[in-house]
Amino acid sequence: MRYGALLLMAALMQFDAFAQQKAIDAKPKKISPDLFGIFFEDLSYAADGGLYAELVQNRSFEYNPADNRDWNSMTAWKYQTDGFGYGTISVETANPIHQNNPHYILLDIQDAGQKGVGLENGGFDGIPVRGGKYYNFSVFLNVISSQPLPLTVSLVDTKGRELGTASFTASAKGWKKYSEKIKVNFDEDSAMLQLLVKSPGKVGIDMVSLFPEETFKNRENGMRADLAQTIADIKPKFMRFPGGCLTHGDGVANIYHWKNTIGPVEQRVEQRNIWNYHQSVGIGYYEYFRFCEDIGAKPVPVVAAGVSCQNSGGTWKIGSTGQKGIPMEDMDAYVQDILDLVEYANGPVTSTWGAKRAAAGHPAPFNLEYLGIGNEDKITGVFEERFRMIYDAVHKAHPEIKIIGTVGPSPNGEDFDKGWKLANQLAVGTVDEHYYEKPEWFLKNTSRYDGYNRLNSKVYVGEYASWGNTLFNALAEAVYMTNLERNGDVVRMASYAPLIARIGHTSWNPNLIYFDGKHVFPTVNYYVQQQFASNAGDEYLPGIINFTSADTTAGASCVKDSVTGDVILKIANAGSTQLFGTANLAKLGKLAQKATFTIICGDAKVANTAAHPAEVLPKTTVINMPKQWKFTVPAYSLSIVRIKAGK
Ligand code: AHR
Repeated sequence: MRYGALLLMAALMQFDAFAQQKAIDAKPKKISPDLFGIFFEDLSYAADGGLYAELVQNRSFEYNPADNRDWNSMTAWKYQTDGFGYGTISVETANPIHQNNPHYILLDIQDAGQKGVGLENGGFDGIPVRGGKYYNFSVFLNVISSQPLPLTVSLVDTKGRELGTASFTASAKGWKKYSEKIKVNFDEDSAMLQLLVKSPGKVGIDMVSLFPEETFKNRENGMRADLAQTIADIKPKFMRFPGGCLTHGDGVANIYHWKNTIGPVEQRVEQRNIWNYHQSVGIGYYEYFRFCEDIGAKPVPVVAAGVSCQNSGGTWKIGSTGQKGIPMEDMDAYVQDILDLVEYANGPVTSTWGAKRAAAGHPAPFNLEYLGIGNEDKITGVFEERFRMIYDAVHKAHPEIKIIGTVGPSPNGEDFDKGWKLANQLAVGTVDEHYYEKPEWFLKNTSRYDGYNRLNSKVYVGEYASWGNTLFNALAEAVYMTNLERNGDVVRMASYAPLIARIGHTSWNPNLIYFDGKHVFPTVNYYVQQQFASNAGDEYLPGIINFTSADTTAGASCVKDSVTGDVILKIANAGSTQLFGTANLAKLGKLAQKATFTIICGDAKVANTAAHPAEVLPKTTVINMPKQWKFTVPAYSLSIVRIKAGK
């Protein structure tokens, strides 16, 4: 009866909820197959202490006060003499493993005491270990005294109980890597790693490392499995990396240079993280490319446009004057570095940089298709001169690479306008728009792209989020995303930002995924992103879904995935009342009679937190799918219907 009444209402009142939509939605249209992806930045301990599975903090003794004024080479380390041993400990720089990795520890042990003398590391807020699991330990040692040195490496709990141990002897003069497997016998959330020398002698110590044996896809120097899997479960079509502000850096000297981040980890150039900590670059460009491949996401590296962040030195407080350019005499070399990046990713193994990729373990190309130049830079003369140099060189040498330009940090304003003007002048393929706004902004701006000139540069919404992790925030984003799909001919890509953040070390909120040493906490926003990315299509089908009354807090889209033939309906309701409507599937050809129906709904103010991680989760059922589907969706909900092609 209720549906009968609704049908009648629908017949009388049926109209598209979006007046603008009608104009641009007359016919089905091809939309970007790469629309929904992710943006990874080493921010809030996203890499070291996060996705990177390394459990030792400051493994190379390279922390220093420039990273953080309270830090030095011994940060996260303790000199361990508990068994009444004694000697001296010092931080040295003469004759290091490699010039890029200058600091190491020198132990001169006079008496090893009852337990040995050495070092203890507490990891990132403690080292979480699991009984029955194996851990891969490695260290570089340089034995300076004449006798071989016996050592033990152990994981211990806070009371000193041994959880697992291994013994070995070091004798090599000169730096040599030693590797041991440690079996852990008990669970412990806050273990410490102890490396103890058991007899008198003198030894240099560097690159003390511990990885779980199980990393994501069991990669060496790999990613933390649970966190990586959570990211992979989004099924992102692409991944932008390594930042954000991290890319263009805090001053010219802090610009991220990809060449510093490849090769053996002990030879990489570590540096300050703009977010006030340290980058070991253990996850470097090779690992980023490999991770993209492992999760089926196209790599989207972003390089600095030859200028540092305009907020360098914290100048955002006094008016954005901190942007500095790489000196013009160094720009040719910088441009060449970027051309070399393309060769590193795609070049044959016989090329200089392709050979380095192959040497790292990946002879096949990484199939780089996109390259970002610049990150929300202030559009100044200094920027423009350098951007043009890079753009022209890459475009000329690699017309096959889709270049993404930049249009400032906001959805409008001076840099936005100037950035767009430059992009249109140069015919840059795509530009990167950024916006962090209130949820209401997303609901008010659903027609933002309707009027974009389809002949101009296309859009990558490289960073966006509403300010919060409640269901309402996530649904405002969902409503907006249905409109990104509707404009998927001009908006080619979009990624929520930031992606992951370690609880207790967040430099930015909100984020899509929170984590600590042992747990991963996906937000409601995460589930929305996951639903859109894993239910993407490449054809937009207009006029299929109609609401029975206009609603400014709702959005709907219908797309088809041409690979599977599946049709996907998305109905997002960020409003406080139920929503009624119809989906007319009759014109879509043969479709299965049943469909999967996934819903995310609940109280608008609810969020998934560490204390309550599962307040709002998607629920999936199977429903019958009539050709004329009359629907009622609850207040504060996102519904996704996936219908297979009929046989
Ligand atoms: O996503 C966090 C930061 O926001 C990025 O580093 C920067 O590009 C933007 O300002």
